[in-house]
Amino acid sequence: MNISIAEALRSAGQILDRAGVPEARREAGSLLSFILGKDRTFLISHAEDQLSEDAVRRFREYVERRAAGEPLQYITGVQDFFGREFRVTPDVLIPRPETELLVEAAIELSGPGAFICDVGTGSGCIAVTLLREIDHARAIAVDKSPAAIEVAKLNARNLSVADRLEFLVSDCMDALDSNRYQFDLVVSNPPYVAEAMMAGLQREVRDHEPLVALSPGPDGLSVIRRLLRDTPIFLKANGHLIMEIGFDQGETVKELIDDDVWRLVEIKPDLQSIPRIVVLRKK
Ligand SMILES: C[S@@+](CC[C@H](N)C(=O)[O-])C[C@H]1O[C@@H](n2cnc3c(N)ncnc32)[C@H](O)[C@@H]1O
Repeated sequence: MNISIAEALRSAGQILDRAGVPEARREAGSLLSFILGKDRTFLISHAEDQLSEDAVRRFREYVERRAAGEPLQYITGVQDFFGREFRVTPDVLIPRPETELLVEAAIELSGPGAFICDVGTGSGCIAVTLLREIDHARAIAVDKSPAAIEVAKLNARNLSVADRLEFLVSDCMDALDSNRYQFDLVVSNPPYVAEAMMAGLQREVRDHEPLVALSPGPDGLSVIRRLLRDTPIFLKANGHLIMEIGFDQGETVKELIDDDVWRLVEIKPDLQSIPRIVVLRKK
């Protein structure tokens, strides 16, 4: 059957719209761009081109998956983060724009050769980006999920930092030895969604992203508490802990900080002015 790019996009946009997908037309364009290996400008300038049978079949399949709630990034297998392309699978959280603010804060505080630990590395987006941005930095990337560690390893290889990055499957920092590892910086985007909030998440997130990456249990704070408690022995004098927190956790996290151990440098707001990135210095 002959279908033009314009017709395929129109019909896919309607299907996605009816399925409640936000920015339906745009998502349809992203899926077709991915299948054709061309950018959006091509879709516009070649709107009347006929699609091959194979492209039509794949496009239908992908549109069906997207209409059923699967995130675009799990279908295409990629997500941009800090200007680089990361591979993602359903074993890892899709990197978010607010986490780029954590990376910016970490870069501001790090000099060449910094030694960094990324707790809950997921796709590896934080650790890999820091190694690309900070000269001669080295890092350990930790995750409880062995499947996530495999994705992070792939990204480290694809982005040419594998020789400066070690991986460890570990529950927080339990498998690390503080006699062997002393870091300048510990970074983490931990799971922080409270159990009761899970039902209210977008279906793309709730039904498709890994639960272990989203919620650590009832109040959403258990990994944050462990980071505050466990990282000091792994930090050099004046070393930093930088963590991302949930949209409503700023005041609670302030109360959890032990002033004898930490100096709260700042809690950076995200683009919606929500306190998001907690920067602490070991006293
Ligand atoms: C919110 S995701 C962050 C992933 C990635 N760092 C990012 O920013 O996109 C949290 C990650 O922490 C991992 N995780 C959850 N609980 C953990 C624990 N107790 N110890 C180590 N990693 C954990 C999850 O598997 C997941 O990859």
